Amino acid sequence: MTGRICGTGSCLPKEVWDNDRLSQMVDTSDEWIRERTGIRQRHIATGEETTVSLAVGAARAALEDAGISAEEIDLLMVATVSPDEFFPTTSCRVQDAIGAVNATCFDLNAACTGFIFALNTAQAYISQGIYRTALIIGAERLSNLTNWEDRTTCILFGDGAGAAVVRAQDEAADASADAACGSNSKSAFDGENARERSDGVAGERNGNSTCGMDGTRVGNSICGVDGTRGGNSTCGMAGANVSPGRYAQVTHSVGAKGDALTCVSRNQAKYAGVDAPETYLQMDGRAVFKFAVSKVPAVILELAEKEKIDLAEVKYFVLHQANERIIQGIRKKLKPEILHLAEGHLREEHLREKDRPENQTEQEDEKKPDVSVNKAQAQENVREEKTPESEEEYEARFPVNIHDTGNTSSASIPILLDQLNKEGKLQRGDKLILAGFGAGLSYGASYMVW
Ligand code: ACO
Repeated sequence: MTGRICGTGSCLPKEVWDNDRLSQMVDTSDEWIRERTGIRQRHIATGEETTVSLAVGAARAALEDAGISAEEIDLLMVATVSPDEFFPTTSCRVQDAIGAVNATCFDLNAACTGFIFALNTAQAYISQGIYRTALIIGAERLSNLTNWEDRTTCILFGDGAGAAVVRAQDEAADASADAACGSNSKSAFDGENARERSDGVAGERNGNSTCGMDGTRVGNSICGVDGTRGGNSTCGMAGANVSPGRYAQVTHSVGAKGDALTCVSRNQAKYAGVDAPETYLQMDGRAVFKFAVSKVPAVILELAEKEKIDLAEVKYFVLHQANERIIQGIRKKLKPEILHLAEGHLREEHLREKDRPENQTEQEDEKKPDVSVNKAQAQENVREEKTPESEEEYEARFPVNIHDTGNTSSASIPILLDQLNKEGKLQRGDKLILAGFGAGLSYGASYMVW
């Protein structure tokens, strides 16, 4: 049994702070921030907006997109490093706000990799048959943890939340749901957004299926066949010709590098009532940068090797939005592998890295320039003519929204996923890789069929 995403949502605070606003607060400039990070603005929670309210906004949007009720959720997880309170958990607050009375709720903290870890956890429960329907949310109010006097960090972060409904796709259930489809269906595909999906799902992919085409609208549903709790709803994917779902993941944690990104609890006795810099987010930006550009391509490659995935077939690499230059670095490193330009070199580098202790890797990274990027570039130049797709097409595989959002930690991947979904860029059967990295340090990548 595999879980499949059948609805997404996101919620960003109303207030937007552009770079000029920050340059009035610290010694920086719009030009510096754009050049070094790609960020033009970020959304900042104000007034009544909290981590919980943003999570609730994203959750409601995801449920509407999935066309299911809150009562149908069995498992509700929130990935966050910036809860409004230690307990009750953010997930329990969300449960109460949306009426997900049947859900088991807990929070998960894996910093910017949080959404990936939450997705893995949901998939593990679903594959064991323990739960069928999970709502996973990445929600952050990082402005609460930001030192607004520290120009090296405050320019990077923003607030927001993203969510996804993940539902069991059971092949046997597909068949029975297909049979029932059109009679019991309370969900339908209508509206502009839904038409796109019903074309792709019920039409092209599902062959003869007429699922949800009777116009009995329940939201912009791409999920839900019979609409009853605990039923065999398979996210609108009933039908013989539907592409099989698949999910695979690799994650790693490197506690030895934990000091590169820290935020000490203000609730520790030592810091009670003290507004010390340690109690805000602190970061060794260069170390995190190098870590990300080295480890994210490596973990994507590890996943591809382990699961026999042809990276050329992956439509989108949905990466954590921490810095546009990091995304560019990862994109450049992976190009030979994705486009089959120079098989082997990154693979070899990755295998060498696996055999080295972490501290040694770090020391060597400090000394050496990033030769793999140069090497990849050289290969790229030599073989440019053979590239099967234009640079623009290749870049489009790595969508970016950091210009608008800044780094929203565990919310960044689901916010981007929701944007792709709402823009109609995701069709059933599309292959995706999601990858994140962050405090811990931690990193990981997940492969899925949309
Ligand atoms: N405006 C102007 N100048 C600045 C600013 C600023 N906002 N910040 C730093 N500088 C200065 C520095 O003081 C330094 O000046 P100096 O040369 O006189 O000493 C100069 O700019 C260069 O500083 P660097 O730190 O080398 O700048 P760099 O190009 O590395 O960019 C940045 C810094 C943007 C933080 C980058 O290192 C980065 O993006 N790192 C990764 C951050 C990240 O991805 N974090 C994700 C984890 S978040 C999480 O997990 C919760």
